[in-house]
Amino acid sequence: MLPGERLIGSGSMILSNITVGENAIVGAGSVVAKNVPANAVVAGKSGKTFAIPKRGDELTYMTKITKVPFLDLVTPHQELKAELMQVVEKALGNAGFIGGPMVEDFEKEFAEFCGTKYCVGVNSGTDALRFAFMAADVKPGEIIVTVPHTFIATTEAISQVGAHIAFVDIDEKTYTMDPEKLREYLDERCRFDQSRGKLIEKASNRVVSAIVPVHLYGQTADMDPILELADKYHLVVVEDACQAHGAEYFSRKEGIWKKAGTMGRASAFSFYPGKNLGACGEAGSANTDDEAMAKRMKMIRDHGQAKKYYHDIEGYNGRLDSIQAGWLSVKLRHLARWNESRRQLAHRYHELLANSRDSVVVPQEAEWTKGVYHLYVVRVQDREALQAHLAEAGIGTGIHYPIPLHLQEAYRQLGYKKGDFPVTERVASEIVSLPMFPQLQPNQQLEVVNRVREFVAARVPTVR
Ligand SMILES: Cc1ncc(COP(=O)(O)O)c(C=O)c1O
Repeated sequence: MLPGERLIGSGSMILSNITVGENAIVGAGSVVAKNVPANAVVAGKSGKTFAIPKRGDELTYMTKITKVPFLDLVTPHQELKAELMQVVEKALGNAGFIGGPMVEDFEKEFAEFCGTKYCVGVNSGTDALRFAFMAADVKPGEIIVTVPHTFIATTEAISQVGAHIAFVDIDEKTYTMDPEKLREYLDERCRFDQSRGKLIEKASNRVVSAIVPVHLYGQTADMDPILELADKYHLVVVEDACQAHGAEYFSRKEGIWKKAGTMGRASAFSFYPGKNLGACGEAGSANTDDEAMAKRMKMIRDHGQAKKYYHDIEGYNGRLDSIQAGWLSVKLRHLARWNESRRQLAHRYHELLANSRDSVVVPQEAEWTKGVYHLYVVRVQDREALQAHLAEAGIGTGIHYPIPLHLQEAYRQLGYKKGDFPVTERVASEIVSLPMFPQLQPNQQLEVVNRVREFVAARVPTVR
């Protein structure tokens, strides 16, 4: 644009008697009802005015506004429709709807993908967690330690086995369990009872029996120190890998990369449709290397029976449908490629948002993790305004999660209060998840970035 010129985007409407100042930009499709000052940018149907961004910023206001969904679940299913329909035909042909070869095949394939000896298909990630706690012999009244920055299913599963929830805060960079906070809790707020060989929480006198690190947003928790603490105090570790299919962790202790879900005594995966590996309905799996745990989880998912109508224990109806298993097998063949696509999109987001780093905190991958970007979560001040700005441009966003678990009404009885987990609370008030799915197109991603930049350019940068 030459000095003194104005850029008016196609399809924009400037009402009569309205003036557009020098060097101003009117975005395509904008409706301008107020005078536009010099050097301003106007965008959106409501004709919002923004300060002009820094020179050199790559902006494409003149491109046609594309609608960008937060998640596109239609395209991958359309692409795989023929194979997915074959699974249905097969199930209709033999009426094998529960269990059977399709479930067994998927269990083998997913165990192999993860690198665990066993995979037990169940009907949700929540059940996978619950069955893992039960199989690990966590008893009612005992404490399971986890983080307050996770989906409520993590803690629902704890309560559903009659255990008590204890929270420790997260690390501000990775949004996963802070091993130092875990150490503080275990070393200082608990004591080891040598005679019983158990760790006891001093305040409640309850036994602490397990830790659940959550590999949130597709990035693993820092497992070396967590496993070391678990070892020291004889605690069971159950990984919540519900958002981390295929994520990797570099164990500095062992000098090797390990997949999410292979490091604890057991791990839980969710195959909820929007997950990196999603079914076309509810599904999940509990993975382990421990044969006894696998056997027990199989019994628990099937009314406590290993042989039909011989019930050793009371269990649940928590089996995996064979059609879901068949669909998961089809999709599993694409998971590595989809994860790679997510990683590339994430790196492109990082690069494109590099100039906005004083206002937008992008996800940080610790050197010991290879994330699979289930979500691409940024942090900004006034995130509701950013969401509204993006929504106006037809861009979907999400918040994962707005209210930390320790402040949820459902957990009022735990007695936590505001200020107990400052990192979680700060993070929860600033996070916004941007569109992230393997089929996200470069022009759609650019549109998201341009709208984010447009938003931050109109605000005073906050230095962190
Ligand atoms: C971190 C986490 N844990 C547990 C779950 C529970 O999985 P499901 O919805 O399959 O029960 C989810 C699913 O959203 C999750 O994101």
